[in-house]
Amino acid sequence: MKAKFNKMLYGGDYNPEQWPKDVWQQDMELFDKAGINSATINVFSWARIQPAEEVYDFRELDEIVDTLAKAGKQIVLATSTAALPAWMVKRYPEVARVDYEGRRHKFGQRHNACPNSPVYRHFVKELTARLAERYGSHEHVVCWHINNEYGGECYCENCEKAFRVWLRKKYGTIEALNKAWNLTFWGHNIYDWDEVVLPNALSEGIEGEEEPGNEKTAFAGISIDYRRFNSDSIMDNFRLERDTIRQYDRDTLVTTNLMGTYKGLDYFKWAKEMDIVSWDNYPSYDTPWSMVAMRHDLMRGLKNAPFMLMEQTPSQQNWQPYNSLKKPGQMRAQSWQTVAHGGDTIQFFQLRRSVGGCEKFHGAVIGHAGSDQTRVFREVAQLGEELNRIGDSIIGSKTESKVGIMFDWDNYWALEYTSGPNKDLKYVDQITRYYEYFYSKNISVDLIPVDADFSRYDLVAAPVLYMVKEGMAKALERYVAEGGTLVTGFMSGIVNESDNVHLGGYPGPLRALAGIWAEEIDALAPEQSNEILFTDGTKACCGLLCDILHLEGAEEIARYGSNFYAGTPAVTKNAFGKGYTYYVGTVLSEDGLAKVLDLACVGAGVASVIGEETELEVTRRISDAGAVYFVMNFKDQELPLPTVFAGKKDLLSGRTMEEGEMLGKYDVRIAVLQ
Ligand code: GLA
Ligand code: ZN
Repeated sequence: MKAKFNKMLYGGDYNPEQWPKDVWQQDMELFDKAGINSATINVFSWARIQPAEEVYDFRELDEIVDTLAKAGKQIVLATSTAALPAWMVKRYPEVARVDYEGRRHKFGQRHNACPNSPVYRHFVKELTARLAERYGSHEHVVCWHINNEYGGECYCENCEKAFRVWLRKKYGTIEALNKAWNLTFWGHNIYDWDEVVLPNALSEGIEGEEEPGNEKTAFAGISIDYRRFNSDSIMDNFRLERDTIRQYDRDTLVTTNLMGTYKGLDYFKWAKEMDIVSWDNYPSYDTPWSMVAMRHDLMRGLKNAPFMLMEQTPSQQNWQPYNSLKKPGQMRAQSWQTVAHGGDTIQFFQLRRSVGGCEKFHGAVIGHAGSDQTRVFREVAQLGEELNRIGDSIIGSKTESKVGIMFDWDNYWALEYTSGPNKDLKYVDQITRYYEYFYSKNISVDLIPVDADFSRYDLVAAPVLYMVKEGMAKALERYVAEGGTLVTGFMSGIVNESDNVHLGGYPGPLRALAGIWAEEIDALAPEQSNEILFTDGTKACCGLLCDILHLEGAEEIARYGSNFYAGTPAVTKNAFGKGYTYYVGTVLSEDGLAKVLDLACVGAGVASVIGEETELEVTRRISDAGAVYFVMNFKDQELPLPTVFAGKKDLLSGRTMEEGEMLGKYDVRIAVLQ
């Protein structure tokens, strides 16, 4: 493998093919002025480098590579396979996707290829081989960026056939398949593999108000398998490109840009195939900063390693409903927050704003004025100077957390396919509620897969662990028995990996561990709530779902205050071996959840990274030089610097920080403490 990056990459998507060549030279000068040391190229150029089935033409790409190399820039080279060329769709219509409604798409848009089309895969391999052969050993090419933001679904006949093959491999016999999907329900039994059809609007779809990609179906088990299959199919495309590259280039890092909590792909599985995780960070004007932090922690968690920030906008988006400008200092603070959570690169979409097409209002380092005399350019240049100065001392440094929050795509899918008990139950929302607590306390968190090594953590939170797969309950029992603290709760332990209920009472295989039995689950409408009474006399409230619990060894921490189950336990704690399991039977208000997590944290000995309360965001990365602390103000008001940093040097300004100094909104300090 080539040494990761010789400099913290600072750059982003660059499309010189959309511009006359005299602009390229201006760009190189402007990049230097902004401290930009890298560019991501060839992301959407398939139609330029292969203008016809038999014709490849790399002259323009050669020139782009040369121009960047002469300017001393590191190149992230994309493979261009994320948008089909017109000639291909015209000659081979099967390369285009069929959507959930069953409509075959025509040429147009992007991210539009059927992952199981042999024709698409053939052309992908041919193109990737040529690119890898030509540019793989180029010393300025530091990373391969395969395709772009993989995602979506296809419901074509090729996919249907491939689904049957995938199922045969997984289940072996038709009997096993019928059992796994519980097909005797509604008499859906099948007797031959070719009776399997894809679960879309034409088959198992349930009409509703869900967004595209989120539709419900009559058999969650079928749809979950389809999700797994679709994620695997698309991942096979990624692997095809990666393996083709590897035939010519053994050394350069290979990645593809992921999208945070994007639902469609099982990123933990994907990450195993990637050399380094990269992702695109596009919060909206109203996305809480805790949510952004959580997405970073998830992306870091995928490989438990630093990641690349492949894209963010320097100023505004174009595709959100309200594309507000980033305020002065916001892009800088957001970038440092990225580094603070494990980012080893800062890259933008895009370096120069396009002249036409749907992204012409998307922010860029160089705007339509083509000038360096803009607020955005100046802010990019300031950050460039800072990253160039101190970035390299941070690259590769680790994050150490004693708290793990489980995140699992099977659970994400399964929970959101349920028909009942409450349509407002959303997977990421529930994970976020837990994350927010730790974020507000500056307790470092890893987002972990369900098969993580739990022994690394003092506290593991597993909210809505709806699907408990083979072996998971035993692993959790071992963890708690050996002294771990587990926090779980409602809608956990309910189904197995095929979405069939674990019989014998909820939470199924977690029942002994939690020391409770959940007999019924009440659903509350948005206008309804219940009262929560803690044993110490304090009160909170709850909603959405209320488990009706029986104690089976656990002690009660809080009980319901109203409804016919008033006085029954709502939150419990169970001693199991040397550890404890907390079971939160309902969606608690923020203060209620904080109270439970306070108890769990104190019990588990989990503390904030600085041992001091502050409303500032503080994170830590451990490098050879010591512990690097990032202090950031994402609140509207000025806040005082935590005392532990008084007298320490701020790496950004070079200044010694003073006791009681105030940080304004978006201010950042970075300090090394030994
Ligand atoms: C995505 C894509 C980019 C660009 C940006 C715009 O992240 O990868 O090509 O369209 O969105 O925000
Ligand atoms: Zn298809």
